[in-house]
Amino acid sequence: MQAEAAPKVWTIGALVKWATDDFRTRGIESARLDAELIVAHALRITRTQVIIDAMRPLAEEELAMLRALVKRRRAHEPIAYLRGEREFYGRVFRVDKRVLVPRPETELLVDTALGRTRHVSMSMRQLDLCTGSGCVAITAARQRPTAQVTATDLSPDALDLARENAARLGAYNVAFALGDLFAAVPEGARFDVVTANPPYIASAEIPTLQVDVRAFEPLLALDGGEDGLALVRRIVDEAPTRLVPGGVLAMEIGAGQAPDVIALFEARGFTDVRAERDLARIERVVSGVRA
Ligand SMILES: C[S@@+](CC[C@H](N)C(=O)[O-])C[C@H]1O[C@@H](n2cnc3c(N)ncnc32)[C@H](O)[C@@H]1O
Repeated sequence: MQAEAAPKVWTIGALVKWATDDFRTRGIESARLDAELIVAHALRITRTQVIIDAMRPLAEEELAMLRALVKRRRAHEPIAYLRGEREFYGRVFRVDKRVLVPRPETELLVDTALGRTRHVSMSMRQLDLCTGSGCVAITAARQRPTAQVTATDLSPDALDLARENAARLGAYNVAFALGDLFAAVPEGARFDVVTANPPYIASAEIPTLQVDVRAFEPLLALDGGEDGLALVRRIVDEAPTRLVPGGVLAMEIGAGQAPDVIALFEARGFTDVRAERDLARIERVVSGVRA
């Protein structure tokens, strides 16, 4: 904060305005929203209260806390990491730099998996690869409380946070396993559905991503190899040996990857292969049935 520009008494409204202007000059598009979210988080109030209580003066310690948060956002740290949480499918997940921030489009992966396994419904056995925060596995487990869900990841740190999320959200029907894709589960284990939101960004594209993503989110969660499809290929290849006949593979993919991924599914013998579009009309989830 510049001493000459600073008001004599900092109110909530003045702080929001100052942070919004500051974020805007640094190219942060959601400047106002982020400023309000930061204040709401620091003062433990709702965004509505931030607006209603605009004239409320800030105490020195509140100001210090807010300055520290504004500094982090100014450096483009994602707002979800600052707040330590992100909502997904109506539930609040803990997030930090150990895991990818859950995206709204990933809710479509959950809907596809649940929608295509209605026949097994409550007895569903699901394997969620690349679980990260656990958002897909835990959501499916809460939607189907008698299902058995196994969530795996190569990152022990991510798995620790996923376990914490499962405990906090009461998803007692999720087991966790560490390892490289299917190697995390016993060879004989079979599933009704395999879900995955694997890293799918081509290595060369990573430096072109928004700084919020490339400088803060784990590279292991982003980098999908030379063409982005290295893990997708491995999953499609091995899934038929891990699915029961009639079992479903559902995977999130990147914009423009659907034709290649559909071809991979079909070449591996999957039937009824479909691509679902997200709210931006991007083909985001590809799924198919093991014949
Ligand atoms: C795109 S993030 C998805 C996280 C979460 N499922 C979501 O949708 O928000 C990909 C995850 O895959 C994990 N991962 C990367 N390579 C892996 C591998 N070979 N085996 C298992 N998990 C892997 C990363 O650690 C990361 O947590």
